[in-house]
Amino acid sequence: MKSHRYHIITFGCQMNKSDSERIESVLRGMGMEVVDRPEEADVIVMNTCSVRKSAEDRVYGLSYNFSKLKKQKPDLVVCITGCMPGRDKDGKLKKKLKEVDFYFPIKDVGKLPGWLHVKAASGPRATEEREAGGSVTQPHPLSPSPYKGEGGRAETVGSEYLSLTPVYKNKFQAFVTIQTGCNHFCTYCVVPFARGTEGNRSLKEILDEVHNLAAQGCKEATLLGQIVNHYIAPDPEYFSESNPYKKNDFAKLLWEINQIPGIRRIHWTGPHPIYMDDEMIDALTLPSQINFLHLPVQSGNTEILQKMNRRHDREFFLDLIKKIKNKRPGIALGTDIIVGFCGEKEAQFEDTISMYKICDFDIAYPAKYSTRPGTIAAKKFVDDVPWQEKKRRWQAVQDLMEEITWRKNQAYIGKKVSVLVENWQDGYCTGNSSELKLVEFLGKGDLVGTIQEIEIDKAEEWILRGRPVT
Ligand code: 5AD
Ligand code: SF4
Repeated sequence: MKSHRYHIITFGCQMNKSDSERIESVLRGMGMEVVDRPEEADVIVMNTCSVRKSAEDRVYGLSYNFSKLKKQKPDLVVCITGCMPGRDKDGKLKKKLKEVDFYFPIKDVGKLPGWLHVKAASGPRATEEREAGGSVTQPHPLSPSPYKGEGGRAETVGSEYLSLTPVYKNKFQAFVTIQTGCNHFCTYCVVPFARGTEGNRSLKEILDEVHNLAAQGCKEATLLGQIVNHYIAPDPEYFSESNPYKKNDFAKLLWEINQIPGIRRIHWTGPHPIYMDDEMIDALTLPSQINFLHLPVQSGNTEILQKMNRRHDREFFLDLIKKIKNKRPGIALGTDIIVGFCGEKEAQFEDTISMYKICDFDIAYPAKYSTRPGTIAAKKFVDDVPWQEKKRRWQAVQDLMEEITWRKNQAYIGKKVSVLVENWQDGYCTGNSSELKLVEFLGKGDLVGTIQEIEIDKAEEWILRGRPVT
């Protein structure tokens, strides 16, 4: 085929980054090579995110640029996958995207080589006919329904593409997707519409992937799922008899991965607070578990949490954080927060601020609420907090985070942290500690990919500096 250079643009979360590693493996499997600039590519793939409006707007902008590029390069193939095709049930988004050749949910990525071959054989003008003929696949049909995930074994539908071997970003760190989709229908969230209902990957396949990674020298595995701690193994017979956990399949999975020699650090994201049961909390003390937990709270006010359909109240979350800190003192905590959700009063926002202070989070990802078409909030509630006010609340969370993070980082001075070295530049090594704090120290380039003990002597807001201890 004519197309032999590709460029992938990834928006959004780690799940999308992991999916892009699979897109990459499909394209490399066709003998294609990566290029850094879209202008040099024969095939451009945009892996899109729909969680916020701004991410979708950037895709419209880029697709317009690529449509101009196509005028100079008629053979250029533009593909769009990820969340946008997933949520686009009536094709409205597609209409706003210029000159897109292939528009498909990620689960169909395995079909890409076939489509590209047909396209190469028939030339650029054949696109529209093929779309009309249905080779551009339709998204997952889905309508909101009450969550029925509890009990019973999980379905695997929609996650078959996960058996493609990804092109990992480096040999010592890897994303391992264990689950796709989500059945929770938090009222603000587009994910269940964009990614379909929950599908859990086979336990055997996950364990095989991690064993293979370990054999190739991987040291850190990051397990990914929308509600990763609601993982239900479709093939539980592969759990070891000696597994100490009895109820929570994700805790069981963490234990199994802890037994794999070579995997020194296990990280996972993102969990839902309501599935942090006693086994899960216990699993935080497993030897390879990193000293960090990301636990989205979204709001510190019970009524807002209810309106968001988070299925827990303020007290539940505070209690949970207390239990976690009792079990693993010193664990670093991260969270997600939405400010300015429909009807959020000043006093309710203040509950988020007080929640933040009590939990003493190390890091937060605050977001200004934006209505996502198709979600329950878009249908039922009014987005009535003014934009300026959302900005003010966002800034208040940001300022609080910076103050707390700075203070918490000072406590690392004089202490030792263990760092997986990711980069080397100008004589300095950088990497994340087990608390996921960025650490820099003077060292050699051959330390990349190794774990080093570093004593911290300087702490800033977003970086700790130190020196290796022998
Ligand atoms: N508006 C703002 N932030 C949102 N998030 C999800 N949906 C929305 C929305 N409509 C945030 C949540 C979630 C993170 C991935 O993105 O905080 O945890
Ligand atoms: Fe979205 Fe809620 Fe599912 Fe998370 S749990 S992906 S916020 S619906």
